[in-house]
Amino acid sequence: MTGVAIIGLQWGDEGKGKISYLLSRDAEYVVRFQGGANAGHTVVLDGRELRFNMLPAGSASGARPCIASGTVVDLDEVIEEIELLKSIGIDVKPLISKNANVVLPVHKELDEMIEKLRSRELIGTTRRGIGPAYSDKALRIGIKIVDLLDPEVLESKVKLLEDFHKLSIGDIEKSVRIAEKLSENTCDLEIILNEALDEGKKIVFEGAQGTLLDIDQGTYPYVTSSNTTIGAVFTSCGIGPRKISEIVGVMKAYTTRVGAGVFPTELRNEEGSILREKGREYGTTTGRPRRVGWLDIPLLRYSIMINSIDWVALTKLDVLSGLRKIPICVEYDVDGKTIRIASPNVKMLEKATPIYSYLDGWPDLGREEWRKITLRGWDALPENARTYVETIENLVGKPIKLVSVGAAARMEVVK
Ligand code: GDP
Ligand code: IMO
Ligand code: MG
Repeated sequence: MTGVAIIGLQWGDEGKGKISYLLSRDAEYVVRFQGGANAGHTVVLDGRELRFNMLPAGSASGARPCIASGTVVDLDEVIEEIELLKSIGIDVKPLISKNANVVLPVHKELDEMIEKLRSRELIGTTRRGIGPAYSDKALRIGIKIVDLLDPEVLESKVKLLEDFHKLSIGDIEKSVRIAEKLSENTCDLEIILNEALDEGKKIVFEGAQGTLLDIDQGTYPYVTSSNTTIGAVFTSCGIGPRKISEIVGVMKAYTTRVGAGVFPTELRNEEGSILREKGREYGTTTGRPRRVGWLDIPLLRYSIMINSIDWVALTKLDVLSGLRKIPICVEYDVDGKTIRIASPNVKMLEKATPIYSYLDGWPDLGREEWRKITLRGWDALPENARTYVETIENLVGKPIKLVSVGAAARMEVVK
């Protein structure tokens, strides 16, 4: 039984796409289990940047993509990404749970409207209709994939939804056409995944967003509308917790956040702009500049604790090269009290003063130098870079087994 879960430990964009690609190379299936097209997961292969919003990025490895019941599916994206995979020579037939809810044009319209109403308290959503689609699901008025394939059921569900929203739900015929085109791909995914695990096949569960964007465990209300933490694997895919043998946390070597919300280690200065440019920190889905800051250990300790993380993949270490000193927030001071593990309570985080340790940096290395390092392995990393990684390991109490030093696959070292 080899169920491997990949969970973002910060506010998303940790590099889950690349890590999922690496871990899916010997997997039978790779599964998106929550969220929708708000995700933007990148894999760089042969110099080409492949971006996935709806299918798991791990499918670029040839593992069969699955979309589980707990997601909200943007059908247009599914079609586009099947074509994207075709363009790299991968002919896939994704498996889509019949039970997944679909995102309709009305959900995107409502996402936009609600953000406008919030005015000063803007969340800065991706406008992909995520919140409204999940709220219709919770109200039990949402439309599922299976409904699109049953004209009678669909008619009454569409009527209920339109009466509820007092808005047209948009082009439902298009969704029906796509669902019909994909009808052979729709399935009882729960049974397929359980049987595959029982047969000893490897399945990668590719998380989207990050722990601090979880609707229950994140910095509410500045979060997404799904659970992004480990429990979502079980509830969305209908598999029991004992079927997951490995839980991998993905962490960027610094912190970023897109959209509004508290961010204790944020850099609002020139240093932040330099890091943003160096790390190319612009949203994969929306193109928005990402806010950047130093690594935040109190929040990472919390993320690692609540997800039962076994080991960590650290990404974008290369982006920190060339700095004289690298600050790491090791604790907070909140009203004179020291906080080691921070629950993402917004009021507390707003009062938190980060306490930094300063580590020595390493020279600015070019891409070619990093490539050579990846060929030679862990010991070839600059000594201060190794110290940075080992310091984080000690601070969070989990091994960092994979260190990524470039966007492309192969630009990583196994520790
Ligand atoms: P995800 O949402 O967690 O999959 O992450 P994104 O794809 O939104 O953002 C990560 C960005 O960093 C992408 O553009 C990746 O290609 C890139 N990336 C991933 N790992 C590394 C790395 O180790 N170094 C650098 N420089 N870029 C990386
Ligand atoms: P990946 O999977 C970073 C953020 C949005 C906004 C909040 C709510 O690429 O890591 P939503 O559209 O979900 O209602 O927006 O969550 N957000 C993300 N930030 N990476 C993501 O996904 C995100 N998905 C949503 O910016 O602040
Ligand atoms: Mg992303």
